[in-house]
Amino acid sequence: MISARIKQAVRDVNDFPKPGIVFKDITPILKDPALCIEISKALADQLKGIEIDVVAGIESRGFLFGPSLAQLLNVPFVPVRKAGKLPYKTIQQSYDLEYGSAVIECHQDALLSGQRVLIHDDLLATGGTVVAASKLISQLEATVVAYSFIISLDFLNGRERLTPYTQKVFSLVSY
Ligand code: PRP
Ligand code: ADE
Repeated sequence: MISARIKQAVRDVNDFPKPGIVFKDITPILKDPALCIEISKALADQLKGIEIDVVAGIESRGFLFGPSLAQLLNVPFVPVRKAGKLPYKTIQQSYDLEYGSAVIECHQDALLSGQRVLIHDDLLATGGTVVAASKLISQLEATVVAYSFIISLDFLNGRERLTPYTQKVFSLVSY
C-alpha cells in the first residue's frame, strides 16, 4: 500500500519550526525515486474523472510533486509563490499558518478566466495556505475543482475550510 510506504518514509521532527509543532518531514521520500514515481501516479489516479485545465502548486513543497503531477495529467503547471519571488505583475493574498503568517502570490496572467484548477501541495494542515491560493484563483476568475495533497493533518480540520470551494479534497495519507 502506498499510504503505508509514505508513512514509513515521513519523519516526525518535534518542535520544528516552533515548540509544540510536530513537523512532517517529507525529505526522506525524495531519496527514494521509485516511491516518488508511485506517489505522482497515485496523486494522478485519485483525480480520474475530474476535468482539470491547470495544476497550481504552492511554494515550496508543492513544487516537488506538482510539476510531475501536471505532466501526468498533461496540463500546465502554475507556481503560487511566497511574496516577492515572482518577476512579473502579481496578485497577492495573506494567510495564517500552523506556525506563523505569510503572503502568497501568483502572476496576473497565470490563469485564464473560467479555467478549472487543481491546487496541489505536499501537506494540508489548517488549510490557511490553500484557502489563500483559492482566493488568488478566484481573483483571476478561474475555478478550484479539486485539492490534492500527499499528507492531511485531519486533527487540524483544514478540510472544513475548503468546502466552500469544492468537496473534492484528496490526500494519500492522513494523520
Ligand atoms: C507548509 C506546507 C503547506 C502549508 C500547510 O508550508 O508545505 O504549504 O505549510 O499549512 P496550512 O494548511 O496550515 O496552511 P510552509 O508555509 O511551511 O512553507 P514551505 O513549503 O516553503 O516549507
Ligand atoms: N505545514 C503546516 N504544519 C506542518 C507540519 N506539522 N508539518 C509539515 N508541514 C507543515
